Amino acid sequence: MKYREIKNTDLKLSQIALGTWVFGSDMWGGSAEKPCIDAVKTALDCGINIIDTAPIYGKGRSETLVGKAIKGMRDKVLIATKCGLLTEGKQVFHNLSPASIRKELDKSLKNLGVEYIDLYQCHWPDPETPLEDTLSELIKMKESGKIRYFGVSNFDYSLLYKAQRMTDITSCQGQYSILERGLENDVLPYTFDNDIGVLTYGSLAGGILSGKYTEPQKLAKSDARTYFYKYYQGEIFKRVTDILTSLKDINKPYNQIAINWARQRRGVTSVIVGCRNPEQILNNIKCLEWELTLDQLELINKTRL
Ligand SMILES: NC(=O)c1ccc[n+]([C@@H]2O[C@H](COP(=O)([O-])OP(=O)(O)OC[C@H]3O[C@@H](n4cnc5c(N)ncnc54)[C@H](OP(=O)(O)O)[C@@H]3O)[C@@H](O)[C@H]2O)c1
Repeated sequence: MKYREIKNTDLKLSQIALGTWVFGSDMWGGSAEKPCIDAVKTALDCGINIIDTAPIYGKGRSETLVGKAIKGMRDKVLIATKCGLLTEGKQVFHNLSPASIRKELDKSLKNLGVEYIDLYQCHWPDPETPLEDTLSELIKMKESGKIRYFGVSNFDYSLLYKAQRMTDITSCQGQYSILERGLENDVLPYTFDNDIGVLTYGSLAGGILSGKYTEPQKLAKSDARTYFYKYYQGEIFKRVTDILTSLKDINKPYNQIAINWARQRRGVTSVIVGCRNPEQILNNIKCLEWELTLDQLELINKTRL
């Protein structure tokens, strides 16, 4: 495994992190318990030392499965979970108020069966809560020892800048892939200059960049990929297929190309890859055995949807 440090912290993250949205099951075409637990064990055996989860993934199922899997191995793993994205019935809403975060954190600690979270992330911005209030609460939680570091996720540049002016933001999480390049505009240069760690998600674009689909998928309406990763449908699917075909000469599996591209971009600390079983992990980590050349990176950089 290869690791990268986040400056001014004692966090040393594997360049590939295990993503566990799929463990939630309900929004991702179902997932059985055993392969998820085995995936965590395999990840740790391979040297992956950071697992990303969130209480909203399967309403606690993802955190609970991660907790089960890491029992007895707490010292081997960095746990990154989140707060601020909640559900009530079918309604999803944001809440980063201090009272709500306090409640969520205690629930996450219980789900995971741990005494502290290594990296606690604001899942999405909450326009209704003053940022100062959220950050003050996170500072208090750090002082209490319930979390070691905190970061943000899905914050745009201006909000990240505002937060970093108020306190030290350890990390920033955002969607970043060959197909989704928004972070390059301002977030990545800013995090690089300010020693903020970057965790990318969706670097396989929900799985489509593995190249395993030869035709658009018929996914249930409730499946997160239908709205979160729009590439599964119609014209756009055809364009993604063309992009993958243009990378054929690199002569490596597409999933590895996609992960390496994100992993090798300046400023990226760790690429969170969602995996539903050990096989996907073992397949993905093979990308660490090789690197894209500068010419290959340049070729991919020119690619646009
Ligand atoms: N902060 C946020 O708002 C946010 C948003 C999204 C995700 N995340 C985090 O980031 C993680 C990664 O993102 P993601 O899971 O949404 O998308 P992703 O990593 O781009 O795609 C994950 C999916 O790709 C497929 N896959 C993985 N390895 C494969 C392989 N070797 N061959 C074929 N298919 C493979 C699996 O799908 P199937 O087996 O189902 O086909 C897997 O569920 C999440 O799990 C979550 O922890 C955070």
